[in-house]
Amino acid sequence: MSSGKIVAGYLAPHPPHQVYGENPPQNEPRSNGGWEQLRWAYERARATLERYRPDVLLVHSPHWETQVGHHFLSVPNLKGKSVDPIFPHLFRYNFDLNVDAELAQACHEEALSIGLTSKLMTNPDFRVDYGTITTLHMIRPQWDIPVVGVSANNSPYYLKTEEGLEEMDLLGKATAKAIERTGRRAVVLASNTLSHFHFSAEPDRPEDMTREHPKTDEGYRWDMRIIELLRRGQTKEAVALLPQFIEEAAAEVKSGGFTWMLSALGYPQIPAELHGYGTVIGTGNAIMEWDVERASTALAGAGQS
Ligand SMILES: [Fe+2]
Repeated sequence: MSSGKIVAGYLAPHPPHQVYGENPPQNEPRSNGGWEQLRWAYERARATLERYRPDVLLVHSPHWETQVGHHFLSVPNLKGKSVDPIFPHLFRYNFDLNVDAELAQACHEEALSIGLTSKLMTNPDFRVDYGTITTLHMIRPQWDIPVVGVSANNSPYYLKTEEGLEEMDLLGKATAKAIERTGRRAVVLASNTLSHFHFSAEPDRPEDMTREHPKTDEGYRWDMRIIELLRRGQTKEAVALLPQFIEEAAAEVKSGGFTWMLSALGYPQIPAELHGYGTVIGTGNAIMEWDVERASTALAGAGQS
């Protein structure tokens, strides 16, 4: 099989309000819209994803928490109802998804080979978490591309932040190796918000957008600082700031998916495309894209001239 590659990565946050606002048939609760700026940003991301024609989507979700090691979804088909435990009135989603179990197996083996604790999720009745489902629905509502779900070991919460993120860096490298070995054209998705200060009371109508804004000025300013660095391609500078960002903005990047994604992409020093930014119950959410395939083609072209 020819050598596989990661063609793109997306920061693809999972607040379930986005699915609630869209009213897809799979979600039971009905809304009158809301969070349009984020949903329309996802529409832009859907169009670019379509152009990559990937074989598989890999997603790391902060809300599939595993206490021991990094787990990979490995059941060829999973069906069920995913309910958000905090917002069951907004998200009760009937999912039916296909998993690339061969790639999951390869990710597991590569993770073990570099010393990480890893496990395959083989329970056929496993209920997939709302973070994984929301990110995948928002980026590809057709559900016609196989997926590999990756759990959050939450090592940054048990270890020092820096140690935990180093482990996610290793997991990213292992993931990239597995993709290469299995010959897949893959897209990697980090399912996390940025600043994570949030309101604790909900309006009578959850989609009342007059009540939606950044929870704190500090969180908003941190988000803009990180986004601006990423837009300029200053990936290393942004990565160096992550521990401080986590500390001062309660950033959900602490769950590790963002580091995993950037590591899998090889920390590309290319400008990320910002598809849009918006808040959900006050937390900061950016939909961003790294087109590493185009960047490597441009580099190869420059080398030949
Ligand atoms: Fe979350």
